[in-house]
Amino acid sequence: MQGLEVELAGMRLRNPTMLASGIMGLSAASLRRAIKGGAGAVVAKSCSSQPREGNPNPTVVEIPTGLLNSVGLANPGCAELAEELGRCRGEVPVVASVYGFSTREYAACAQVVERAGVDAVELNLSCPNVEGTVFGYSEELAREVVEEVKRRVRVPVFAKLTADAGDIVSVAAACEDAGADGITAINTLRAMAIDVTTARPVLGNRVGGLSGRCLKPVALRCVYEIAEEVSIPVIGCGGVTTGRDAVEFLLAGARAVQIGTGVLYRGMSVFRKVSMEIAEYMEEKGYSRVDELVGLAHR
Ligand SMILES: Cc1cc2nc3c(=O)[nH]c(=O)nc-3n(C[C@H](O)[C@H](O)[C@H](O)COP(=O)(O)O)c2cc1C
Repeated sequence: MQGLEVELAGMRLRNPTMLASGIMGLSAASLRRAIKGGAGAVVAKSCSSQPREGNPNPTVVEIPTGLLNSVGLANPGCAELAEELGRCRGEVPVVASVYGFSTREYAACAQVVERAGVDAVELNLSCPNVEGTVFGYSEELAREVVEEVKRRVRVPVFAKLTADAGDIVSVAAACEDAGADGITAINTLRAMAIDVTTARPVLGNRVGGLSGRCLKPVALRCVYEIAEEVSIPVIGCGGVTTGRDAVEFLLAGARAVQIGTGVLYRGMSVFRKVSMEIAEYMEEKGYSRVDELVGLAHR
């Protein structure tokens, strides 16, 4: 498909769709399935320096317009994950997602995955499902993490933020100021469901993160406002399921979009389908390059 290539912080993507963090398993094989499905880049599940078991079951529940999950960053630790990531290098950019309970842990994990040869690091500053500080709630803490990671690694660093922060735009600006190479907006929003039969919260962890179609208007607003404020690339994430959704994010100012829950709705080939639908829109409207769409809604 011609005209779909985009440049993102120095990486070349064959199309603007990316696998969002945490959606596929932790193995190289599962990331390769997304690459086969047409993804322009893949983001691995977030890893921490030590292995984590995650939260009690049930950790995922489907609701009419989305998903609630409280997986809680279950992962084998960054050293083991880094080995897996090393195995899927080559075809499209591979982005590692790192998480830490301290600035130092973020930086240490980022160094481990960089050594494995990943093309970029996404900082999960916004997981709603673990006990501890959510660094992305605070301009100061987010700035501290980005600054420290930028001191330690050379690959591009993206800061993944949440609209649960009081003011996501100011946090994004602080991350840009600290040297981030891009902003991913947004992670899931804190949410819950209650089973009226048992009169108990459905998720084992009670509260989880909301994703899927219902997240799109919030994510789109965040991308639009962040794109007005920062000059580094913004990656849209939240409810992208169709090419039209992706086009909305591009028009709002995103250079690329990540797809998570959309994989459940449309299968692993969602990346190819969305790319084709973007291409159809471009043809219909007479655009020859995706770049031409980026930020058009700001006129
Ligand atoms: C089951 C599940 C696990 C997730 N795990 C992670 C994770 O490890 N790290 C992260 O940054 N985001 C994680 N997310 C959030 C997604 O990457 C994405 O930001 C969010 O789901 C919104 O996009 P979507 O509506 O396309 O799913 C997870 C989402 C789901 C549904």
